[in-house]
Amino acid sequence: MSRRKALQILGLGSGVVAVAGATGLTWRAVDGGVFSTGTGSAYDAWNRADPGGHPLNLVDAAILAANAHNTQPWLFTVSADRIELFADMSRTTGAMDPLLREMHISLGCAVENLALAAAPNGMAAKVSLLPTPSDTTHIATVSLTPAAALSSPLFDAISERHTSRGAYSTSRTVTGRQLDTLSALADIPGTQLVWFTTAAQKKAFSDLTVRATRAIIADPRQADDDYRWYRSDWHDIQRHKDGITIDPSGQSAVVRTLSKLLPTTRKQNNDGWLSGTRDTQLPTASAFGALVVQDPHDPLQRLRAGRIWQRIHLTATTEGLGMQPLCQIPERVDRETSAGLSPEVTNAIAAMLPAGSHAVMTFRIGYPTATALRSPRRPAADVVRA
Ligand SMILES: Cc1cc2nc3c(=O)[nH]c(=O)nc-3n(C[C@H](O)[C@H](O)[C@H](O)COP(=O)(O)O)c2cc1C
Repeated sequence: MSRRKALQILGLGSGVVAVAGATGLTWRAVDGGVFSTGTGSAYDAWNRADPGGHPLNLVDAAILAANAHNTQPWLFTVSADRIELFADMSRTTGAMDPLLREMHISLGCAVENLALAAAPNGMAAKVSLLPTPSDTTHIATVSLTPAAALSSPLFDAISERHTSRGAYSTSRTVTGRQLDTLSALADIPGTQLVWFTTAAQKKAFSDLTVRATRAIIADPRQADDDYRWYRSDWHDIQRHKDGITIDPSGQSAVVRTLSKLLPTTRKQNNDGWLSGTRDTQLPTASAFGALVVQDPHDPLQRLRAGRIWQRIHLTATTEGLGMQPLCQIPERVDRETSAGLSPEVTNAIAAMLPAGSHAVMTFRIGYPTATALRSPRRPAADVVRA
């Protein structure tokens, strides 16, 4: 459908209101949030106040972290000199993350934002990961002491960082220096960034990502658990303040509007995911990467990888670069492992990585051609326990 034709159907060109009113689309438009992109209480958490010097200000930063399926699997307790972070085990994604790899990475991302927010709020933070061996949901203790307030470009980037799912520029490419800068951030022994930059490497990564996407869609349990976190109704988004929504999908304004007006079926959703991945996200990537560790089943290595991922994405944001995790490969690897399936994707990705390393995050990078939009967030008040 041409853009013009779509606009005519939607009534967004001339003669709009008449068409929309006559077909009842106006009501759907309001209900679907066509006129409300990025507004409402589901998005208030992004409008952060200046650092206020209170530990709660650190939580305000933590909840803006990247997190798989936007489940926000975190709970905090806060006192004057420490913040405790717990995993919320009611917010897992089932067969999409059967070994909890993505949950741990997401929590690691939140830890990194907590740590980065300390200095601008006049505090020094000491992070202890998995401090209670008998309680695997106790993810971190962050001890706080008063310190001189220091500004930080990465802290400033926390509200600007969004997952960028649209097309990237095919004329402006990421430089080797930029990739080296990001590689240096994987500074924990055993953790490494592996880049796929040549045409052959990019084709191998793309082919495997498409294969993994198809396998997820064809796997009823995995597809069910994936779909559960999609939210299309504006009121649902405002109520839950979580999940995957259409606005940050990287689709054009026309397609986003259509999706809000005429809710998609699960099949259409899957078809859109596959075609968006295959036809836009993969072909326009400047490079692909994998964050690898030695033991992908070790929660500590995953939490550290999450801290690194958040730092990488924030650093890329300060350079005007877009990043998108494309985690179909590790999601399929975990599914093959946990369900005892033939290790097809597992073997294929292993052949692309240094011996003995395992990908816990796979992603693309490039210069975005459009602004990435915000995802909903639950505010600190909803995730801090008494
Ligand atoms: C471990 C992990 C895996 C993710 N996998 C994907 C993915 O496969 N595809 C994707 O588009 N986004 C992926 N994301 C990005 C999240 O969906 C995103 O962080 C979340 O929806 C919140 O949006 P924001 O990053 O724009 O704040 C992943 C993020 C994390 C931390």
